[in-house]
Amino acid sequence: MIPFNKPYMTGKELHNIAETHARGHMAGDGHFTRLCNTWLESKIGCAKALLTHSCTAALEIAAIVADLQEGDEVIMPSYTFVSTANAVALRGATPVFVDIRPDTLNIDETKIEAAITPRTKAIIPVHYAGVACEMDTIMALAKKHKLIVIEDAAQGIWSKYKGKPLGSIGHMAVLSFHETKNIIAGEGGALLINDPRFVEAAEIVREKGTNRGQFFRGAVDKYTWVSLGSSYLPGEIIAAFLWAQLEQADAIIAKRQALWNSYHEALEGLEQQKLARRPIIPESCSHNAHIYYLLLADLEQRSAFITHMKDNGIHTVFHYVPLHSSPAGLKYARASGDMTHTDSLSDRLVRLPLWIGLDEHLPKIHSAIKAFF
Ligand SMILES: Cc1ncc(COP(=O)(O)O)c(C=O)c1O
Repeated sequence: MIPFNKPYMTGKELHNIAETHARGHMAGDGHFTRLCNTWLESKIGCAKALLTHSCTAALEIAAIVADLQEGDEVIMPSYTFVSTANAVALRGATPVFVDIRPDTLNIDETKIEAAITPRTKAIIPVHYAGVACEMDTIMALAKKHKLIVIEDAAQGIWSKYKGKPLGSIGHMAVLSFHETKNIIAGEGGALLINDPRFVEAAEIVREKGTNRGQFFRGAVDKYTWVSLGSSYLPGEIIAAFLWAQLEQADAIIAKRQALWNSYHEALEGLEQQKLARRPIIPESCSHNAHIYYLLLADLEQRSAFITHMKDNGIHTVFHYVPLHSSPAGLKYARASGDMTHTDSLSDRLVRLPLWIGLDEHLPKIHSAIKAFF
């Protein structure tokens, strides 16, 4: 079976983990965490980067730092991973879903203003497949209505919008280093902060609600409980693993881009014959080749495609089940306007395997796709 995903290892991960062992500092915020944070700050250009044990954790910190309260509303797409909405609902606030654009499958920025109410506090644009949302419009709306923007760049490391790295545009942003992402740590994530107003609060929330960071910098003579918080930092073993990946980020992403481009070229004919639609990348975006997907005619055809590929030894998958019609979505969230594109596209999308080393399997994948249509 050709797997859908195969985590890529650079070869340096175990060496870094052995170094952590030798250093004898296994808890968080040690040598490798500092290397990763500094790398993210300099490469992405954010005021502060804080490693977390997942992107979910980074979203939860952002929700606390944004001071989301019961009754507040946060605008986001329904076509996203549960964590985007969960972080908001955990604060007692309400996720408000807006439909997606049929080209990028990102939140439709033209429908956001209609969803804004006096209770709206934030917008969480999700950069689907590492392709940027229309951030100029979103930031202008946020400025006009005094809203906080938290970029969900879980899939977006190293992608750019008008030359700016994703994660450097909103007031805050989150990244994922889950093993299905481009740059991995098994489980892992980061909170990126661009608005300096939020830096101190984020450090405190991440450290169990204490001012431990200030204590270690010598800014206070004892540390204590100062706000709500939890344990959101990863141990050094995770950071050591991640550092091996970050050091090779350019090469990893270039290899994925080569695979993505090769799918895109090979499947052009399919699109010309109107048998399937390929991803659309707006001119303002350069992307990190996180996902290669096809849009098929309908749910029935997609199910048949996945079964056909499985019968040919190829694992393909779909996602996301829209949140607005999920049991928790119905309980904790609401939709603004219709969800026509969300419902249709989520039924029709299929993701093809995309991992470093897949090259030798591409002929088999292409002949299986050809045989289906
Ligand atoms: C858009 C989005 N946000 C958040 C997450 C959560 O990431 P993590 O698994 O690192 O918590 C994911 C995970 O796939 C995601 O796709």
